[in-house]
Amino acid sequence: MISTFPTNNCIDLSQIRLEIRSLQSRLVAWRRRFHQRPELGFQERLTSEFISQNLTEMGIKHQTGIAKTGIVATIEGTHPGRVLAIRADMDALPIQEANDVSYRSQHDGIMHACGHDGHTAIALGTAYYLSQHRDTFKGTVKIIFQPAEEGPGGAKPMIEEGVLKNPDVDAIIGLHLWNNLPLGTLGVRSGALMAAVECFRARINGRGGHGAMPHQTVDSIVVSAQIINALQTIVARNVNPLDSAVVTVGEFQAGHALNVIADSAKMSGTVRYFNPALEDYIGKRIEEIIAGVCQSHGATYELEYWRLYPPTINDARMAELVRSVALDVVETPAGVVPECQTMGGEDMSFFLQEVPGCYFFLGSANPEKGLAYPHHHPRFDFDETALAMGVEMFVRCVEKFLR
Ligand code: NI
Repeated sequence: MISTFPTNNCIDLSQIRLEIRSLQSRLVAWRRRFHQRPELGFQERLTSEFISQNLTEMGIKHQTGIAKTGIVATIEGTHPGRVLAIRADMDALPIQEANDVSYRSQHDGIMHACGHDGHTAIALGTAYYLSQHRDTFKGTVKIIFQPAEEGPGGAKPMIEEGVLKNPDVDAIIGLHLWNNLPLGTLGVRSGALMAAVECFRARINGRGGHGAMPHQTVDSIVVSAQIINALQTIVARNVNPLDSAVVTVGEFQAGHALNVIADSAKMSGTVRYFNPALEDYIGKRIEEIIAGVCQSHGATYELEYWRLYPPTINDARMAELVRSVALDVVETPAGVVPECQTMGGEDMSFFLQEVPGCYFFLGSANPEKGLAYPHHHPRFDFDETALAMGVEMFVRCVEKFLR
């Protein structure tokens, strides 16, 4: 048993692995239980109850009802020291599951299609392991079970309710199961990992009329077409080419008959970027383009623009700590991949704005077993072998950070 070693200078790493691997069947059972009963953001009532019940059985102190359904568990080492937080998100998506598996979703129209069921199981497994090995770290581990990552976002309200205080958190880590990487690999990088997410909705007001008499109208579709094209120049001609950004118009609605010029048109879309300096810039350019094109055609507009999540930016020192642990866990340098940036967004970013930390990807795709569908796909599933690897990453990060 590891607990027979007096200090963690003497910890046998292969012993940690063996002990964590022995938790695999329990991790799978938890994950499948969460998978069968998925819940949408801020409605994770069953999930939260199950976590709380298990933490109680493990003898772990925890607080429930933070930001509605969130939980923070506190595990103290046998000696005082720093405080490391581990964050896991718990929410599912409004997707009808298309997988025919024994553990398929029992909640109609709701599915764990992003792997947050796995994140919750990994966090619970980590809590269990650490509660059994309090003598392997100095200080405190706070495990944050967060609601509503898929939107509108549970990280911010949890921070506002004080999860990073009392005791004050020194650093934070978190992971995402990642089907863009094969099982057995980890995506770890310093700096920007995931993009900022901003959203807009615009209504273009023209003047409708007869399809054969355009001179009597202001054609909202023609105006909108010019706007949509011109919006592409923000990334192509305004943003520094060395900065990555995206402007996507994902919805467009106008008109109802082939011989009628549409009175108004609606469009909505999303903006992504890594560089925090772009925070107010792209939204400002969108409004300038919409206003300018409308003015040149005698149309008017209404625009709503809002910021959802900032970019997810890893601290260099915490990323180095996670990378060194990852190298031990995968045992081959090629298995730790820094080329893992994505324009997807994450509200882990709010935690990383408050304290230094590192968010990383845990490779979970296994095409040979048919487990390689992308996240948010109705057939999404991942290789559950990754669960024990996730626990091992967290445990070893704890033991390294709280040495
Ligand atoms: Ni996700």
